Amino acid sequence: MPVQIGASAHDFSDPTGFLSDCHRRIEMFMGVLEAVAKDIDRPLTPESKRAVEAALRYFRESAPKHNADEEESLFPRMRNMGGTVIHPALARIEELEKQHRWAATLHEEVERIGQICLSVTRPSQKEVESFRGAVAELAAMYREHIRVEEDEVFPVAARHLSRGEQAEIGKEMTARRSVALKLP
Ligand SMILES: [Fe+2]
Ligand SMILES: [Fe+2]
Repeated sequence: MPVQIGASAHDFSDPTGFLSDCHRRIEMFMGVLEAVAKDIDRPLTPESKRAVEAALRYFRESAPKHNADEEESLFPRMRNMGGTVIHPALARIEELEKQHRWAATLHEEVERIGQICLSVTRPSQKEVESFRGAVAELAAMYREHIRVEEDEVFPVAARHLSRGEQAEIGKEMTARRSVALKLP
């Protein structure tokens, strides 16, 4: 189960493009967890262990930054936009934020049981079932969550936020990751 994170097609000067690239990584790492969940009642192979480690690290360290990009940088500016064009997207944003909270609890469970599987200990049958259930629920949620963001929210932001606002969002996203900002 080789894991290749891959380069981003968009940089921080295109915030919604960059966020969509992050979605591809979320999908890839959810795919890793779904594949592992099938055989989680057996000892992991060294290759599966590396894949699980990478997936758990992604959801522990990088995914929270993605949520913060949306909740602290993108969504507040959309809420400030005003005008009827934003209304359908605003209705969606509230639900998206709730899903972020809901997913956090399931990710904690996946992390806890995933770490057991990476250790010398074996998960109990109850933990095996819990891991499978949490991964299945997260995968289903992300499919719809990402669809709503990419089809109904990001296009409105890309079309109606000014270049200045998009640059500010890009700067905040950069600061979260402490890397140099590349602007055209
Ligand atoms: Fe989101
Ligand atoms: Fe997202």
